[in-house]
Parts: sequence; C-alpha cells; structure tokens
Amino acid sequence: MSNALWMLLLALLVAAVLAVVRRRLPVLFWWLVGYPAVTLRVLATYRATMDACGLTVPASAMRRATARMVGRQAAPVPPRRSLPLPTGSGLVMRLRMAAGQAPEDFNASADRLRHAWGVHAVHVRPTKPGRLELRLVGWDVLADVRPPRRWLRTEPLTLPLALREDGHWHVRDFRTVPHELILGATQSGKSVYLRNLLCGLARQPVALVGIDCKWGVELAPFRPRLSALADTPDRANDLLDVLVDEMEARFRLIGMRGGAGPDAVLTSDVWGLPEKARPVPVVVVVDEVAELFLAASKDDEKRRDAMVTKLIRLAQLGRAAGIYLEVCGQRFGAELGRGATMLRAQLTGRVCHRVNDETSANMALGDIAPEAALAATRIPAERPGVAVVGDSSGGWSRVRSPHLTLEDAAAVCRDTSGLIPVLPRLDTFRPVVPQPSAAPVVQPATRPVTG
Ligand SMILES: Nc1ncnc2c1ncn2[C@@H]1O[C@H](COP(=O)(O)OP(=O)(O)OP(=O)(O)O)[C@@H](O)[C@H]1O
Ligand SMILES: [Mg+2]
Repeated sequence: MSNALWMLLLALLVAAVLAVVRRRLPVLFWWLVGYPAVTLRVLATYRATMDACGLTVPASAMRRATARMVGRQAAPVPPRRSLPLPTGSGLVMRLRMAAGQAPEDFNASADRLRHAWGVHAVHVRPTKPGRLELRLVGWDVLADVRPPRRWLRTEPLTLPLALREDGHWHVRDFRTVPHELILGATQSGKSVYLRNLLCGLARQPVALVGIDCKWGVELAPFRPRLSALADTPDRANDLLDVLVDEMEARFRLIGMRGGAGPDAVLTSDVWGLPEKARPVPVVVVVDEVAELFLAASKDDEKRRDAMVTKLIRLAQLGRAAGIYLEVCGQRFGAELGRGATMLRAQLTGRVCHRVNDETSANMALGDIAPEAALAATRIPAERPGVAVVGDSSGGWSRVRSPHLTLEDAAAVCRDTSGLIPVLPRLDTFRPVVPQPSAAPVVQPATRPVTG
C-alpha cells in the first residue's frame, strides 16, 4: 500500500476515535480538542468579534493622535481580557468593561458571541464594578448528567443536586434556603429530583419524613430510611400535629439553654446549641401538595384548613427548630384554597420543571424573574428532568439532576437504613418495611394451562 493510503487510513481512524471520545467522554474531548480549538478561535478573532457584536468603544484621543501620526485610523477598542482559562466544561475569561459599558450589553450579545466562537453557550457574570466574567460552555452539559464527584459533597444539609447549564452544580443548602417548592407538569421530572434529594440526605444525619397522599407510591421505596411516612390525608394531619409538637419542644429547649447556668448559650436556633444537645434536623418531603388541599365534605374542609395552618407554622418557624420543608406539586396557586399563597410565599427555594402554561410557571418563578418563568415554559417535553432554579435574590438558571432510577434510590435507602436518627415522637409513623420472603408466594407456572 502506498504512503498516501496509509495516511488516509490513519486519518480516518483518528477521526473515528475522536468521534467516539466526543460522544462517550465529552470532558476528555474538551481537554484534547475543544479547549485548544476554541481558545485559538477566541484569541484570533477577539477584536473583530467584539466589534461585530457592538462591544467595542472608540479609541482614546491619545490613541487617535498616535495613529494619525503614522497615517492610520485608530481601530475601536474591545474590553481588556484575561487569558481564556479552562474549566471542566468550557473556559472562562475575565473582562474589564470600558466606560459606558454594562453587563446587560454583554448579556444582549451572548447569543452572537456563542455563534461567532462556535460554543454551546456563553454566560455573563458580573464579578465586581467594571468587571465581568465570560463563561463559554463547550457542549450541552445537560444532555447527560452524571452524579457529582465525591469531593463536591460538603457540609451536612448541603448537597450538589443538579448540574447548571454553565457547568457548575446547583447546591441545595437547607441552612440558607430552608424550604423549597418543586413544581412541574406530570412526567416532567419532579420525582427524580426528589429521589436525588432524598438519597443525598439519606447518607447524612438527618431525619426524613414523607407525606405522600398518592397512597405512598412515590415515597414507599424510601421506607427503610424514612423516620415517618403518611400516605393518607388523615395520617398526614396527625403527622403534622406531631411535627408541630416537636417544633414547640425544640423551641422550649432553645429557651431553656439560653437561661442561667454554667452551660447557658445565647442562641435563637438549634444551630447555636452545643452539638451534644442539638436535635437532629428534620426534612419533611410533601409529594403532590394538591392532595392535601382537596376537600369533598365539610369535615374534609376542616381537616384541610388545619393541615394548611400547621404547614404554614412549620414554614414560618421551622428553620430555627431545624425542621425544613420540601414541597412538590403540579400547580400551586390560589385556586388550591385558603392559605395556599401564604404557604407558597414561605417557600424560598423554587424549582420549576416543564410546565404547560405560563400561569403555572408564574406560580413558581413569577415572583423571582419573568424571564425565568418564560424559560420554564420553553423546556422541551423530550428533556424530562430539566428545570429552572431560582432563588429569592432574582438569580435563576437551567439545571438537570442526574437520572436516578427507583431501584438505585431504594438500594441507597436500604444501605443507609442504619442511619435513621432516634426521634421518639415519630416512632408511631415509622413505615413498616416488608421483609423479602424466602420463597415466592405464587409459584410461576412452568407449563401453559390447558383446558
Ligand atoms: N434528570 C433526568 N434525566 C433523565 N431522565 C429523567 C430525569 N428526570 C426524569 N426523567 C425521566 O422522566 C420520567 C418522568 O419523571 P418523573 O417520574 O420524575 O416525573 P414526575 O414529574 O414526578 O411525574 P408525575 O407528576 O407523573 O409524578 C422518568 O421516568 C425518567 O425516565
Ligand atoms: Mg412524580
């Protein structure tokens, strides 16, 4: 075979290997090919691209005068930039804005920059006055989300839960955002998000409480690790009574510790108590909150009002007592009944999966940012698990949690069942875990039955 043929075969082989690496190992592909190629493109076209996107400013009088002396025209000046530094999923470049420029100008041109440099997305983040960060994302990181690396697991009640589209992890921190609302149409990925949350918490010293009025079908697989489970509105009502009692007892404890004595501590929440005396945090997960609000008769209405009042109390006061709420539903508006909007207002964290109309998106994100609500309505149905996460500071981003099957989640709960903390008040609500029987009750038929 001639040399040319060998070269052609080699080139084809390298191209095939790179195509496989790109598909299977996008991070490796980014380091080998993507980062060098994009960096070269950015460096070579920086001034021209900034100019084409309207992000340059006229040259200073000094530059204009110098250029005139050599018989040239001074070119417009782009913002000063740092070297493009690689990140796990793209690259980051720090920019110093020229006088008269604002981050909004760069935000408006983000899509143009993305096309010019051939990257998946460009995100703009103001860092300090006059400076910002351009974060280029090399590929669609939300297409296939893997669980975070171990080192990302940080303090108790803090867990990296979903990957943001800029390549960072969205970290759920219960101590800064005590209560959260998860909204989304049916089959949008709410339960998978909850599964990730429960499995993350299952490995921590936390009491997990479930309220699932869909006869417990969503939360039943977590039974081995749950301290309490209510699967009917009546049980949920009783469980909420106990949780309010627990909260009151914790406040009494905080008050007593603040009194006189050698080990008196001044604190207004459980986190200020010495570790030995500190009660274990409780995370209450409510799947399909609308079921709690349904009422068919006068008695149901009474029970509903009582439950909503207790949930509002837990949301208002629970943080200081180390009791946190994670509420999940398809819609959460005033039409649910009295107290619904008041309860919603207490849920600081907002996660909105795909919704079918803007009204539903507004229930989760309307009071955060109108663009965030619009982004939630644009999530395609073939991308379950993608959600818009907002916080009360007005910031929001698109995220997706790793796909966790029910079997894997159940296995995590079985493995961590020994970590259920002691909380005697909840003992009567501890779900019964069925023991695997030695022999199947119904023997499988070996032959087709004939008449
Ligand atoms: N993060 C994800 N990555 C990949 N696939 C996902 C993800 N989240 C959900 N899915 C897929 O979408 C399907 C529906 O998800 P899920 O059961 O969580 O929806 P849901 O919103 O809880 O629906 P429902 O309201 O009917 O309970 C899952 O079976 C799974 O295959
Ligand atoms: Mg579900």
